[in-house]
Amino acid sequence: MTKTRLHKVRSRPTRARSLAQPHTLDPTATLARAEQVLRRVGDPEPPPLQSSPQGPLRVGVDLGTAYLVLVVLDPRGNPLAGEYQFAQVVRDGLVVDYVGAVDRLTAMKARVEKRLGRELTHAASAFPPGVPRAEVQATANVVEAAGMHCLALIDEPSAANALLGLRQGAVVDVGGGTTGIAIIEDGRVVYTADEATGGTHFSLVIAGAHNISFEQAEEMKLDPTQQQRLMPVVRPVIEKVASITARHVAEYELQSGKAVQQLTLVGGTSAFPGMAEVVQEYTGIKAQVPERPMFVTPIGIALHDTQSLMSSRHRDIGTRGLESRTSD
Ligand SMILES: Nc1ncnc2c1ncn2[C@@H]1O[C@H](COP(=O)(O)OP(=O)(O)OP(=O)(O)O)[C@@H](O)[C@H]1O
Ligand SMILES: [Mg+2]
Repeated sequence: MTKTRLHKVRSRPTRARSLAQPHTLDPTATLARAEQVLRRVGDPEPPPLQSSPQGPLRVGVDLGTAYLVLVVLDPRGNPLAGEYQFAQVVRDGLVVDYVGAVDRLTAMKARVEKRLGRELTHAASAFPPGVPRAEVQATANVVEAAGMHCLALIDEPSAANALLGLRQGAVVDVGGGTTGIAIIEDGRVVYTADEATGGTHFSLVIAGAHNISFEQAEEMKLDPTQQQRLMPVVRPVIEKVASITARHVAEYELQSGKAVQQLTLVGGTSAFPGMAEVVQEYTGIKAQVPERPMFVTPIGIALHDTQSLMSSRHRDIGTRGLESRTSD
């Protein structure tokens, strides 16, 4: 069943957003650096950093449908270390395996701390637009139970745009389980929607077409030597992503009287070669994908972890400073 969540995001700027957004980061260089320092769990453990970073850290936790990501940035937003792993602990923004999420995140945190030579004491996290407040709190609870104060919770599209820094256009986050759409005006997210269709659906159609397991299909989908020949199989799913995007863009254009002229595709599934071409062809709107689109939202989440950059007066706010914006 397709779930649709649609709402206008409140326009009230928050402290975390206003500090996260006016950055001078180069998204391309930051994503390239992230790829170097973020370890996929299961790959060989990298050596500890030669010198432990000094000063405040910005930490982000992305509890996605497909991937759990922990990323640590320096105060300027440059990636220092992190980990990611395939984990099905969240579905549609709801934590469905709380213990599994906490255990995995606790282990990731311990390994990253060893690499950094420093303790991680706080983190920002995020939720898909439209998730009820109680579920958003469950996300914060996972972060807290793993031993980090969750000092900022933001919606995923705003997180993505903290790194991209777009002034206009739409961000389409094609993750594991859902496609999230955020329309940006003057650098602010003004319209969001989130619907079930993502990388999991790619793997399901591949599994069906080749009569293999979901896990084998997932592996085949990620194999660069197979991706071109898989296009005819996954094309209908990409077109579904495009049709969701086109419908919400049309809805926004009707409401606002303004036109969307650029789509930026992020999320792991956007790394599938040909995504931008198919989406552009279907919607008639120029579409682009940054290199390493999977890390855009996690880095944007970490950019919202600004508490330790503030004065001790703000630091004393602790979890009472939790920022949470939901649609209900
Ligand atoms: N190179 C690639 N080509 C195709 N698909 C990819 C690639 N890399 C990752 N993926 C897919 O991207 C998805 C994970 O992306 P991402 O981490 O953005 O999702 P998520 O945040 O966990 O999910 P959601 O946002 O829906 O909760 C998985 O389905 C994975 O198979
Ligand atoms: Mg995601």
